[in-house]
Amino acid sequence: MNLEPSTSLIPNALIDRFGRIIRDLRISVTPRCNYHCTYCDPLGHTHPEPAGVLSVRDVDHFVRASALLGLDAARFTGGEPLLRKELPEMMANAAATPGIKDIAITTNGTLFRRRHKELLEAGLNRVNISLDAIDQTVFAKATGGGDVKVVLDAIDLALELNLHPVKINAVSIRGINDNEIINMARLSLEKPLHVRFIEYMHLNNSQLEVYKNAFLPGSEAKAMIEQEFGTLEVVPTDPSSPARVFKIAGSQGSIGFINPISEPFCGACSRMRLTADRKVRACLLTDRELDAGAAFDSQNPIEGIIDVLLEAAHRKERMGDILPKIRERTMVAIGG
Ligand code: 5AD
Repeated sequence: MNLEPSTSLIPNALIDRFGRIIRDLRISVTPRCNYHCTYCDPLGHTHPEPAGVLSVRDVDHFVRASALLGLDAARFTGGEPLLRKELPEMMANAAATPGIKDIAITTNGTLFRRRHKELLEAGLNRVNISLDAIDQTVFAKATGGGDVKVVLDAIDLALELNLHPVKINAVSIRGINDNEIINMARLSLEKPLHVRFIEYMHLNNSQLEVYKNAFLPGSEAKAMIEQEFGTLEVVPTDPSSPARVFKIAGSQGSIGFINPISEPFCGACSRMRLTADRKVRACLLTDRELDAGAAFDSQNPIEGIIDVLLEAAHRKERMGDILPKIRERTMVAIGG
C-alpha cells in the first residue's frame, strides 16, 4: 500500500495565522532524564520509558509529514534524548527524509562520549549541550548531583568532532549559578564555543515567589559580563534566531542571550513541537496541544499528521504565556 499522500493537495509551506513560516521541528523522544535540574524536572524521571511513548515509526511519519509541508530542520530533545535507545534510528530516518537539511540534538552531554559514534553515523550535524556552571559544587546543586567533568569532556569531544557551531545552553538563575556567569562567558574566550545564557522560564511549577526571586534578566547577565570583559561586540545573526549574539573582543566563540521573558521573540517563532506522548504543541509557553495519537495509529498516518500540523499552525498563539503560572506540563516533558 502506498501511504504517501498526493502531494498536489499539500501546501508547500506551513504558515500560521500571523504569517510566520514554521520550519523547525523539535521532537522530545523521552520524558526521562538522568539529571534533576529544579528549573526543568523537579521530580526526576529515571524509570523506564513510559507506556505510549513515541515509536521510531511515529517519529518517521511525523518527520516525513513535516518535510512535505516544508519544514527542514529536526532537533531531538527530551528529557535527555540520549537515554532513548532508538535515537540513532530516529535520526537516521530523519536524515534520509527528502527536505530535511539539519539534524541536531539538545543534550546534557552525560552520554555523548558513549554514544557519539552511532549518532554521527545516523547523521548528527550539531549539538547543543546544557551546562549551567563550571564549578563542581554549583553544577551539582543545579543538576541534582551531576559531575561537571563528564559534561566538559562531552563539550571537548563535540569540538574535536567539528560539530560546529557547538552551543552551550546555560539557564541563568539567581541564587543558583549567577556567580558562575563570568566563568561560563570565559569559555567562549578560550575555545570556539557559543555560550548562550537563557532566561529562566517558569516551566517547573515552582512557587511563584521563589521563581520571581530567582529570575535573572539577560540584560543583567550581560552587564555582569561586560563589567569583567569590557563592552561586548555585536555579532550579526539571522533575525529569526532567538539569541542576541555578541563576543568578547578577540574571543574564538561567542556569547548569546536568549531572553524569552524580558524580550520575547514570538514574532519570529518558526517552531513546532512533538512531545514524547504524541502531542503536537505549537508553543513552548502555552499549554494548548493537539493529540496526534489517532493520526499516528491511522491507516494513513502521514496524511493524518499533515492535518494535525495544519490545525496546530492555524491555532499557534501569537505569543506564549511568559508570565509565571502553573502549567499542565513541565519543561522536562516538552524538551525546550
Ligand atoms: N527555563 C529556561 N530554559 C530551560 N531549560 C530547561 N528548563 C528551562 C527553563 N525553565 C533549557 C535547558 C536545556 C534546554 C532544553 O532548555 O538548559 O538546555
